[in-house]
Amino acid sequence: MSTPDDAPVTDAPVTGDPVTVRPARPDEAPSLVDLDDLVWAESERLPREVRLRSVPTRTVLVATREGETAGVTGAWDVEVGVPDGRGRARLVPADGVTWVGVHPDHTRRGVLTALIGSQLPATREAGRALSVLKASDSGIYGRFGYGTASTVLRASFAGGTTFAAPPEIQELADATRTRLQTAGPDLAPRLHAAWRRAATDRAGEVVRTEADLTRNLTDVPEHRGDREPNRVLVATRDDEVVGFAVVRRTVTEEGSVLGGRADVPIVTTADAAARLALAQRLTRLDLVTRTDWWVPADDPLVLWQPGWPRSLADGVVDSLWLRLVDLPAAVALRGTAADLDVVVEVADPVLPENAGTWRWTARSGEGRLERSGEQAQLSVDVGDLASVWLGGRSLGALAVAGRVREHAPGAVARLDAALRTPVLPAQSVDF
Ligand SMILES: CC(C)(COP(=O)(O)OP(=O)(O)OC[C@H]1O[C@@H](n2cnc3c(N)ncnc32)[C@H](O)[C@@H]1OP(=O)(O)O)[C@@H](O)C(=O)NCCC(=O)NCCS
Repeated sequence: MSTPDDAPVTDAPVTGDPVTVRPARPDEAPSLVDLDDLVWAESERLPREVRLRSVPTRTVLVATREGETAGVTGAWDVEVGVPDGRGRARLVPADGVTWVGVHPDHTRRGVLTALIGSQLPATREAGRALSVLKASDSGIYGRFGYGTASTVLRASFAGGTTFAAPPEIQELADATRTRLQTAGPDLAPRLHAAWRRAATDRAGEVVRTEADLTRNLTDVPEHRGDREPNRVLVATRDDEVVGFAVVRRTVTEEGSVLGGRADVPIVTTADAAARLALAQRLTRLDLVTRTDWWVPADDPLVLWQPGWPRSLADGVVDSLWLRLVDLPAAVALRGTAADLDVVVEVADPVLPENAGTWRWTARSGEGRLERSGEQAQLSVDVGDLASVWLGGRSLGALAVAGRVREHAPGAVARLDAALRTPVLPAQSVDF
């Protein structure tokens, strides 16, 4: 397994009685794949070389306990769209945490706590301000200072769904060409460039590297289950890719009736018209009676439905979890929607470098955080701050719930105004 020169691994093992954490050795990949299979109850249908290609490339840390390999965590190189302060997003590098698993014989003994206790400082030392992940369970990561930065609807669009978009958007959608093709690694360079452009449409998207996208677009027959190979619906306008959706259809037969479902694990669009063009194709594919596509609650596809469509959504789920690993750096990377001058007390039991009292200022859309000896005007936990970072939640709501405490009237409203985004964060891909 590769741990590149700049990989955020700790030089010296971090020892906590009785768990030890160290960087994985290159020859350990096969045994860590075995551990991952055991943790996730994998069917082991996938060929060995395919599984070995799924070992994260940025970093892998291994925990040992009582002389046994007890757990593992890794990270991919990703980019995350953070608000630019002007209603769109800018991409910043982040660690995309993955492969978190503890051997069933060693759970609930502090193994994950030790792994994260090494991984977060390593991310920070490597110069990354943010760590992100998709959680298997919503109860795991809050204690480590991660916050739910986006929530999405599990939306299911029936075949033939009508989207009541205004004529100018429909016209642009009609001028957008969509082509359905079989996924393949040859598409990766063009789609990756398009993904990076489209991910600035709203905050919250996670963009994989071109190498990771290449792997995702490469067919693995054993991965398919009862679904077809990955297809890609590509939207172009004037020869430029303005969006794409990775699609997998499953066609089933009940009696003599054929029904089909299309899953859309990756979708990105540069504007509302591209989104409409993709949605209109996907909901009109022959044999497809429903298209499952997870969307923010204010997605144009939702707002183009009459009223709030009860039939559309199958519940709300957490999408991206965000950790502010280096607070001053994160503030400098995120745009602001209003000028600001507020003194904030931040609690961070895991990364003490973030904790304490800060003077948070913003001018002309750019924020700055400096240590302050002044009286704090509001107090907030680092995980709650992460949960408002992408615009998925307001500090005001957290204050009503008593999670943010205001010591000077207006402080919460001022910080909310600076962090305000016009739209909710996007759905993020799994990684
Ligand atoms: C989830 C998992 C990584 C936790 O590892 P672990 O070593 O048992 O965690 P720790 O012992 O460090 O637990 C730390 C705390 O988190 C809690 N916790 C752990 N897993 C939890 C879960 N699934 N839900 C709620 N709380 C959880 C523990 O109770 C403990 O709380 P405490 O400090 O109040 O006692 C492990 O159970 C596992 O590998 N599960 C299957 C794979 C998985 O879900 N991985 C996460 C991928 S996103």
